[in-house]
Amino acid sequence: MKRQPSITLRLTLLFALASAATIICVGGFVAWEMNNHFKEMDVDELGGKLELIAHAIGETRSPSARDTLPGRLTDALVGHHALSADVRTQGQRVFATGSARFPERVLASATDSAKITRTSLRTWNDQGDTYRGVAVRLPSAIAGAPPYTVALAINIAVHQRFAHSIRWAIWVAVACAILLTSLLAWFTARRGLAPLHDIAQVAKNMSAEHLNARLPIESVPVELNDLAHSFNDMLSRLEDSFRRLSDFSSDIAHELRTPVSNLMTQTQVALSKARDAEEYREILYSNLEEYQRLATMIADMLFLAKADNGLIIPSREPVDLRQEVEGLFAFYEALAEHQGIGLAMHGEGTVLGDRLMLRRALSNLLSNAIRHTPRGGTVSVAIGPAANGFVSVMVENPGEPIPAEHLPRIFDRFYRVDSSRQRTSEGAGLGLAITRSIVAAHGGQTRVFSDTSTRFELLLPGLTAPTIQTGDTYSAQNRRNSPR
Ligand SMILES: Nc1ncnc2c1ncn2[C@@H]1O[C@H](COP(=O)(O)OP(=O)(O)OP(=O)(O)O)[C@@H](O)[C@H]1O
Ligand SMILES: [Mg+2]
Repeated sequence: MKRQPSITLRLTLLFALASAATIICVGGFVAWEMNNHFKEMDVDELGGKLELIAHAIGETRSPSARDTLPGRLTDALVGHHALSADVRTQGQRVFATGSARFPERVLASATDSAKITRTSLRTWNDQGDTYRGVAVRLPSAIAGAPPYTVALAINIAVHQRFAHSIRWAIWVAVACAILLTSLLAWFTARRGLAPLHDIAQVAKNMSAEHLNARLPIESVPVELNDLAHSFNDMLSRLEDSFRRLSDFSSDIAHELRTPVSNLMTQTQVALSKARDAEEYREILYSNLEEYQRLATMIADMLFLAKADNGLIIPSREPVDLRQEVEGLFAFYEALAEHQGIGLAMHGEGTVLGDRLMLRRALSNLLSNAIRHTPRGGTVSVAIGPAANGFVSVMVENPGEPIPAEHLPRIFDRFYRVDSSRQRTSEGAGLGLAITRSIVAAHGGQTRVFSDTSTRFELLLPGLTAPTIQTGDTYSAQNRRNSPR
């Protein structure tokens, strides 16, 4: 892949180009102004001389005075070395001074106006010199005599040499300025981009063991604030995921260790002395229970791993929730009766989903509810419509509320409110995680509320619902927060 030029290089080039364009424009303007200024000076100079010549011609009022005209013109123009003049009448040269030879085109351009402007000036080269001049027709003061053609010119070679050296100076200044601004731009860009290098440095030092590093927001420039925040947020998310992953591995190890060590102890005890067949049978039954727990846990973990990889694809058939809950009530009836707990259901609803998976999700909620309901209490299931064509199933049980700090993590795998791992009363802590995965695979949502009672709510797509974003919500407030 083609490597993109660095930002420093781009900024440097951009600055250099912009400043070069500006300096060239300024230089061009200065040169143009200087040229105009010289022209203006020439106009003044030639205008003054023309006035003197016009005066001398005006004084020549008789044919006899005409002979003295060259002398008076010489007096008028004395001391102006750079000036050339040519005065003619009827093609006859009356007076000439200076080195300039006036080309025909200049003489032919003579006008009757005695006022010289910048546009009436003509420029020509002759014998290595450059002249700027003008030709004017002046009337004779002698009645009936033909007019005079007066041509005046100034040698502008000195001006041109000066302009040439100024132009050189401007070009040298432009080159130096471009070099200087490029250097400055490079330096500024490097300094300006330094915070990006800091970000890169933090990223470079990042590893699984050092996920707690963060960018110091206060020392990052405003423009990079969003980037720094996003970067830090990403690190927090990574750190959290990493911590959960490592918690998860240690949880697996712990969960497997207990049943395996139980099995080992029982086997060692069994082998410690000779026993009769009945005793061995009892020990094997007891082992079988542990094996079953292990097998269930492994199957649950596999299910969750599949769900994580998007491999749990539920079928979509209409499922009558009331019918499913009735079936589960029949299953849990004996257990509930044994614990002195009532089971109640109201409402109805049909969802689109996988019957077996939904039954499993509901069964997890019911078994939890029954386990946490005190004797004499009632577990109730409410089914009803929710917003956007979804159907809500709420499993509610009385009993000790779940402390608010546990609610955000209650659906995490292996998470249990009582962390003492009392395996007799609590399961592995995978039930709610499985319920959440199943609901998410259906495009639904899982929520939990716990205050005077504990309520787990599943929002499942009804027969007409569009799919919604998946996720879970928790709330320690009362039922008013329910979407219904
Ligand atoms: N209805 C409820 N009332 C009070 N606490 C509950 C209720 N349901 C779940 N919990 C708490 O949430 C924790 C997680 O529940 P979850 O169903 O995931 O695991 P478990 O029931 O302990 O084990 P498993 O379901 O894998 O057999 C439980 O350990 C319990 O502390
Ligand atoms: Mg459970």
